[in-house]
Order: sequence, then C-alpha cells, then structure tokens
Amino acid sequence: MYVCICHGVTDKQIETAVEAGATTMKKLSVELKVGSQCGKCCQCAKKVLNNKLILIAEQLPCVA
Ligand code: FES
Repeated sequence: MYVCICHGVTDKQIETAVEAGATTMKKLSVELKVGSQCGKCCQCAKKVLNNKLILIAEQLPCVA
C-alpha cells in the first residue's frame, strides 16, 4: 500500500527501513523522504512505524 504519494513510498519500504534502524519519523524522512513535501502521509507513516516497532519489541526476549 502506498503511504506517501509524493515520493511513492509504500508501507513495506517503511517497515524495511525500520528493521534497518530508522526508528523515528525524522529518520524515515531523511531515508525515504516520507512527509517531506505535503506532509499528508505523516499520520499514516507514523502508524506503520509504530506498528513495526511494536512487532519488533514483541520478538525481543523478556528481561525480568
Ligand atoms: S504524501 Fe508524503 S509528503 Fe506528500
């Protein structure tokens, strides 16, 4: 699914960037230019970013 129409960025590209270490919107913007033009994709991109971060966190071993 396209998230950023201005730069043709998909949810899969965002997820791959998060896996590679882009853990903030600022980093996503630098890497993929998400939200750097009209800004209409910011909320959706942030949702994709946060969902991916949760999935990654759930896979980490529990330290208690
Ligand atoms: S849709 Fe992403 S900057 Fe315009």
